[in-house]
Amino acid sequence: MAIRGIICGAGSTGTHLHYGALIAAGADIVAFVDINEEMAKKASKQYGLNSYYTSIEEALQNEKNIDFVDICTSSATHLSIAKVSLEHGCNVLVEKPVTETIEEIEELRKLKERYSKVVCAVHNHKFYPSVREVRNMIKSGEIGDIISINKEMSFNWEDPGMMEEDHWAQGIPGGRLFEANPHNLYIIYSLIGKFELVDIFPRKVSSHWVHAKVDEFQAIFKTDKTTINLKMSMHSTKESYGKYGPNFFVVVGTKKSVLFDYANVVELNDFSGSIKRNIKVKNKFTSEEKYPIIKDKNGDECNIGVDSGHKWIIDKFIGNLEGRYTEEAVSFGEAFFVQAMNSKMGNLVEAKLARQ
Ligand SMILES: NC(=O)c1ccc[n+]([C@@H]2O[C@H](COP(=O)([O-])OP(=O)(O)OC[C@H]3O[C@@H](n4cnc5c(N)ncnc54)[C@H](O)[C@@H]3O)[C@@H](O)[C@H]2O)c1
Repeated sequence: MAIRGIICGAGSTGTHLHYGALIAAGADIVAFVDINEEMAKKASKQYGLNSYYTSIEEALQNEKNIDFVDICTSSATHLSIAKVSLEHGCNVLVEKPVTETIEEIEELRKLKERYSKVVCAVHNHKFYPSVREVRNMIKSGEIGDIISINKEMSFNWEDPGMMEEDHWAQGIPGGRLFEANPHNLYIIYSLIGKFELVDIFPRKVSSHWVHAKVDEFQAIFKTDKTTINLKMSMHSTKESYGKYGPNFFVVVGTKKSVLFDYANVVELNDFSGSIKRNIKVKNKFTSEEKYPIIKDKNGDECNIGVDSGHKWIIDKFIGNLEGRYTEEAVSFGEAFFVQAMNSKMGNLVEAKLARQ
């Protein structure tokens, strides 16, 4: 029998990014839940489901034999929905940011231990073929010891997304940038493991997004061998980098240095020819892999999350529940480290702003 789940949160993530990836992985989705009844109803109708609910409690009282709850709501609500789901004996798939505060992620850890269920953070970008390629190069020793990692993630100023004044992402400690920052942190973690925060320098550079707390930060992290620089901002231009803005890593090792983004891996050289080699990876835009056409219960084709990376993480989550994969897709240790670090950075930004 297929693994049965409920999607909680019928916004764009629960519908467009998750539903088809879950079906492609072999799961059976029985209902959508959304506190906004219209959203829950619309999503269930869109995919041909019979049921929708306005609370997770109501859904779990009515639907039996549910294996997992997929949490795609605003981050401040993740812990309470995860708690109810675990209390009902369900495994949990939860979008990033997994929680908003360090206290919440600590409570989630205790709940996971008490109920002994899978709690899997959606760390989707680390499964892109290019990111997996660099991880493998590091693991095999090809890159050597990692001396430094530099990451730039800058949104296009015209449309960073989630910038409405009352959008829930503005309320995350540190503001909107910390909704997306987990992507940076879990990719770095997946390359080198744990690291510590040295300092963070938040700035308000542009007057464009008047209500943004900060629109740029530079953070420095370290391990005993590696220094990491991370820059996030929201004032890049379409002309300079295209629709979404710069989003790339440079990893300098003792044997090799590579630049990678979500589609390419390039081995770097000194200025005698700064690109030494273009490392061929299947990428999300020109993949050689053939993906299945997945149809919903209305018979309409649905997105399976190749572009966003949800395809791979969700397949691994469902596969782990089914026993196809022995390892959890994302360990709770990783989820805990990443969220605690994201909150720590956001708190430091808030503290620095309060002193200004
Ligand atoms: N991994 C990724 O690439 C990625 C991309 C985008 C968003 N996200 C994450 O996905 C989550 C959802 O983002 P979104 O953009 O879809 O948000 P959204 O605001 O568009 O949708 C969230 C939905 O949750 C509903 N909701 C809020 N509280 C609820 C509750 N207690 N019970 C049931 N429903 C509730 C809202 O009514 C809304 O319809 C966030 O954590 C976000 O950071 C992840």
